[in-house]
Amino acid sequence: MTLWEGRLEGVPASEMWDFTVSTADRRLLADDIEGSMAHVAMLGEVGILSERETEEITAGLRTLSEEAGSGAFIFKDSDEDVHSAVERRLVELVGPVGGKLHTGRSRNDQVALDLILYMRRGAARHADGLARLALVLVDVAERLGPEVVVPSYTHLQQAQPTLFAHHLLAYGQMAARDRRRFLDLGARLDCSPLGAGAAAGSSLPLSPGISASLLGMSGAFANSLEAVGSRDRAAEYVWCCARALVSLSRLGEDLVLWSTREFGWVTLADEFATGSSALPQKKNPDIAELVRGKAAGAIGALTAMLALEKGLPMSYNRDLQEDKEHLFRVDDDLAGGTSALAGLLATARFHPPAPASETAALDLAEALVGRGVPFREAHRVTGAMAARLAADNREFSSLSFSDLARAHPGFEPSDLDLLDPAVSVSRRATPGAGSPESVAAQICELRGELSGGES
Ligand code: ARG
Repeated sequence: MTLWEGRLEGVPASEMWDFTVSTADRRLLADDIEGSMAHVAMLGEVGILSERETEEITAGLRTLSEEAGSGAFIFKDSDEDVHSAVERRLVELVGPVGGKLHTGRSRNDQVALDLILYMRRGAARHADGLARLALVLVDVAERLGPEVVVPSYTHLQQAQPTLFAHHLLAYGQMAARDRRRFLDLGARLDCSPLGAGAAAGSSLPLSPGISASLLGMSGAFANSLEAVGSRDRAAEYVWCCARALVSLSRLGEDLVLWSTREFGWVTLADEFATGSSALPQKKNPDIAELVRGKAAGAIGALTAMLALEKGLPMSYNRDLQEDKEHLFRVDDDLAGGTSALAGLLATARFHPPAPASETAALDLAEALVGRGVPFREAHRVTGAMAARLAADNREFSSLSFSDLARAHPGFEPSDLDLLDPAVSVSRRATPGAGSPESVAAQICELRGELSGGES
């Protein structure tokens, strides 16, 4: 039995059925029931359903909700989608009055609403997951403290000494901004499409504002065609997930590098590493690799979401059914990736080596700048010194004061202290930089934002 059996004769062809049914949307079961309850309450309030009908249908939906919660709800092959399944089961539970559930409603506004309810929950869950991840980064940064100095990198070449905590907090900031993006999305999920019907509205005295407020939303759609025909908010949700996964992929890449013998910055806890079926000695950073890999799928999903809506004629088109596959996939990947990475980071041991002494080059140049030498000249002098040392196969750490004095009369003996990465780091004076003071301030600010639950 289909929801549209009155119109078409015969049994649906199996090829048609298999190709068009939606099973991915079963995940929307709880949302579909929640939306249905609000719809019925609204129908009752405006007098389309009698008090008794409203009560009977609501009681049936409550039973359905319990079945959904306990896993007792059984989908049938004959259910075209989650909406058909809910209506079919409701009629089984309460009889023909269940047929009034769909009054003034279409699956078009129903599915648009379900997805918004799903995303509302999902956005809150991702915001929490990203906050947890960022807090783990803050904790690790704090634990490493002001002692652990590493090279910062540009072009994957050693750049300047910085605190390792500074590097980790960069990822903390990214996760925090990814989190804020989900919180901001909440404003656009605060508008209900329910009541838009199939396309152009209804002759019944529906009140979309009532169902919206019962669902905890500030208001309802402004245009029924747009309400059923657009998926911009779903695309935005996928963008938020994809963007967060891109951030995680960069952290993943750093962890992959750091866990190599060549870098040797991190030892993963056995519980958060994998072994090899063939190479007995291997301990692999698969979580880090997979977040990197799953970001590729997320970028594909975002492209698919945008392409899905591109050029669609107004209003609803069945193409839109495809939105769920893409959205659910990135949703799962982000949730899994954030929690796996948080566990990996919380249990890893970090032991990065000190930066090469040549990373003091800018500090030496800035010492000259502090004595009035134009930066361009200071750069040239220090660059020539670096070239000479490289040619002689020497490190900056082997420099003596006479080397410095030969290079430029502006150098002073105390400038040799700059070759100590800890001294270099302690001299960073700019906000947001890698000095112990700045890093302590960053830890404090980030922790405040994330623990306060505020964006
Ligand atoms: N399964 C459909 C979807 O996800 C529900 C809406 C179906 N509407 C329709 N007119 N066939 O988009």
